[in-house]
Amino acid sequence: MFHTTFTDFLNQHFEQHNLSGSLKETLNAIVAACVQISAKTRQGALSGVLGEAGSGNIQGEAQKKLDVIANQILIDALRQTPTVAGIASEEEDNFVETNEHGEYLVLFDPLDGSSNIDVNISVGTIFSVLKKQSSGSLKTDDFLQNGRNQLAAGYVLYGVQTQLVFTAKHGVFGFTLNDQNQFILTKDNFMLSETTAEFAINMSNQRHWESPMQSYIAELLAGIDGVRGKNYNMRWVASMVAEVHRILTRGGVFSYPFDKRDPAKPGKLRLMYEANPMSLLIEQAGGLSSNAKQNILDIQPTGLHQRVAVILGAKEEVERVNQLHA
Ligand code: AHG
Ligand code: MN
Ligand code: MN
Repeated sequence: MFHTTFTDFLNQHFEQHNLSGSLKETLNAIVAACVQISAKTRQGALSGVLGEAGSGNIQGEAQKKLDVIANQILIDALRQTPTVAGIASEEEDNFVETNEHGEYLVLFDPLDGSSNIDVNISVGTIFSVLKKQSSGSLKTDDFLQNGRNQLAAGYVLYGVQTQLVFTAKHGVFGFTLNDQNQFILTKDNFMLSETTAEFAINMSNQRHWESPMQSYIAELLAGIDGVRGKNYNMRWVASMVAEVHRILTRGGVFSYPFDKRDPAKPGKLRLMYEANPMSLLIEQAGGLSSNAKQNILDIQPTGLHQRVAVILGAKEEVERVNQLHA
């Protein structure tokens, strides 16, 4: 029943929408690297990939072994891809220049949800592709383009099934990894409902949120007795990839809002590696994303590792959050 491989799909999709062959090559390289990461992830303790790496990243987070391995697999693969000029990664202090004559910049969170690796809960890789706009040697500024400039974005979820979800701005498509390590098209165009009765937030941070967010979640918790007039269900996986995948599949709203634990940080999630690619997917599927005040895709980035508050998913919910913050 399902037989279209990712490569065949890309050939047809890129021809249909008149997209560039070198972008296609770039996407094939990213996805091939994710197949390698999936193999490592699946082996777990058997390939010695669990546990701490004993190092930290620039953002002061302890790295897991698999964070470091996944990052290296992606960098090695993209160095060998002539279309890629440079990469930026959540796990690298600075960007890495890969190929002098490359046209594209690839940004990634090599392993999202790392707190879940050792307990065998879904993790994933998130990626975003930009065009290098200037000629000459690569600068940080080349990467600081707003989310609307993304040419493609997606993630690979290493979950119960390994799935690839991707957009080149002509719809959102899903693929499942078969036992021959090929991604096969299993979902033709994800579409998100504008309404939902399911939300995702880490409730343990409640006391640190600002009052509009307190009011919003209070409305949802009040259920049928409150202003929203219906009961809501809650989920929190602590892997954004898994959360977004659930929302694309059955609807919902996800939030990692600003909180006062560290007022210097505008949020926990990273604009370039997490918020932008996920927002592009959500918007392509008919949803909305915001930092509570502005559409995420319109934010002008100022730093590679910039953090941002995130609310994304069903339009009605994201608009309600914006309204409460206005
Ligand atoms: P990462 O593993 O790449 O650092 O990202 C984890 C992120 C995101 O996937 C998830 O939504 C969130 O952090 C979970 O945070 P809490 O542990 O604070 O709930
Ligand atoms: Mn992450
Ligand atoms: Mn990560």
